[in-house]
Parts: sequence; structure tokens; C-alpha cells
Amino acid sequence: MLKILVLYYSGVGNTKYVANQVYSILSKKSKEVEKSKKFSIEIHSIEKVPLSLEIDAYDALIIGFPTIHSAPAQPILNFMKILMQLKKETPTFLFTTCGLYAANSLRIFAEKCIPLNMIPILSKSYRCSATDGMLLAPFMKFWFKNEKHLLPKLERDALNFIEKIGDPVELDMPKEAPYSILNYPNKWLGQKGVFSIYLHKNLCAKCYKCVNDCPVKAFDKDEENFPLLQKSKCINCYRCIHHCPEGALSLSKKYPPKKRWSLVEE
Ligand SMILES: Cc1cc2nc3c(=O)[nH]c(=O)nc-3n(C[C@H](O)[C@H](O)[C@H](O)COP(=O)(O)O)c2cc1C
Repeated sequence: MLKILVLYYSGVGNTKYVANQVYSILSKKSKEVEKSKKFSIEIHSIEKVPLSLEIDAYDALIIGFPTIHSAPAQPILNFMKILMQLKKETPTFLFTTCGLYAANSLRIFAEKCIPLNMIPILSKSYRCSATDGMLLAPFMKFWFKNEKHLLPKLERDALNFIEKIGDPVELDMPKEAPYSILNYPNKWLGQKGVFSIYLHKNLCAKCYKCVNDCPVKAFDKDEENFPLLQKSKCINCYRCIHHCPEGALSLSKKYPPKKRWSLVEE
């Protein structure tokens, strides 16, 4: 029986949502198909991969990550660096979620996959709410929405991937994005520096969700036991701002954030 593994990194939640949807669509499909075509499917966040996980044991992979400053998010790139080359060429479905335009992030990631024998046979980007835009320009409602018809699109792509898995594994390299030059200012800003994140102590409940959930462990505690962000470690994913139960973290020194991420289900 074919074994499929979904692996994803999600900063705030959009990529997790998409990965879970793809997983559900395929789990359902595997129950409907005739016995000879049945497959099994598993899903893991790269932040909680069991030590016993052997990627070599899977026949096909689905890998998802957010586009951050026109490139794959840093934690998924770091994860790729610790992987060994797979013994066999493994068909892979790559997807990224983005707020506006994924530029070349799928292509950049595909280039990391090929030497590891993960062969992209399908690559897709999905426009989701913009976890940067909604903090930086909360007056623009556009940032809060996923693209239209996201779920039918996910279903089409997931089923298409299953159809495409075959022998030989045929690489389908993501094309060079023609308008990626438009994302250069965004990329430049992202590389130039990270925005400061401020704690509004009057709102903080010292629950330490920010400390525990930070993907790069960038928080310490100050002398009063309030969370203290070490800016040099911060990758500006904004998970801490979006997930704080009290809304106590903000890009503004004066005000807590006006709007924050919440799961948009269709
Ligand atoms: C720091 C930062 C930079 C981002 N850069 C881009 C970008 O270059 N292009 C884009 O389309 N979206 C960009 N986004 C939006 C995210 O790609 C989008 O919201 C994504 O769905 C977030 O996924 P997550 O919730 O799994 O982290 C950025 C978001 C953040 C926080």
C-alpha cells in the first residue's frame, strides 16, 4: 500500500490549515478507492516530528511552508539541512501559502529538494490571509481573506497529485516567476532588519505562550518575569503577536494590535 507523508511548517496557522485540509481530503479519498489503490497518509509539523520518523519509508511526500519575504520560511530551510538524501526518488507535492505573491519561493525550495531525492512533481501556491499585512496595515480588509474557492482548489490539487504519482518520477520544476522583481522591495526590507515587537505589560498575563511557542526560542524572561524578546534571534514570523491570548504583543510601542489572525474556514 502506498504511504504518503505530509510535512509542514506554519508560522501562524495558514499553512497548518492548508496541510490539514489536504490531509483530510486524501484520508477521505483513501477510504473510497478500490482496495488495490488504497493508500495511507500521515501528517506532522516539522516542529513536532517524532524521533522515529523515517522519511525513507514513504512513497510520496507533501511539503508545505509559508512564503516569507519572497522565500521559504527559514525554519523549513533549516529542517531540510538536517535531512539525509532519500534512498529512492520520491514524488513530492510542494505548496506554499502566501499573502499576496509567492514569487520564486517554490522554485527556491524545489532546488533544495532535488539533491535529497525529493522530486517535485506538483507545486502550488495558495493565497491566504497575510500575517504581516494585517499587522502593518490593518485597515486593508484584503489582508484578512483567503483566496476564493481555496477548498475546491486544494481538493483538485491533492487528487491530481495522487494521479500523478507514478514510475518513473517525473520532475516538474516550478517555473521562474516573471514578476518576482516586484517583490524586491519586500525582500530588501525583510533582509534589512526585523521590526521591534513590544510587550504591553499592563495586558500581559505571564502565561508564557509566546516564550514556549516561539519557533526560534527568542524569548527570555526579565527581572519581573515578563517575557523578554531577544531581537537578534527573532525571525519576525509574528506568531507571538497573533497567538497571544491577551493581545499584549504588538509592532507598536503605544498600542496593542488592532487586528490579529484567526482561522478562516470556508
Ligand atoms: C514577516 C513576513 C513576511 C512575509 N512575506 C511575504 C511575501 O514576501 N510574500 C507574500 O505573498 N506573503 C508574505 N507574507 C505572508 C505569509 O506568507 C502568509 O500570511 C502565510 O499564509 C503565512 O503562513 P503561516 O500562517 O503558516 O505562517 C509574509 C508574512 C510575514 C509574517
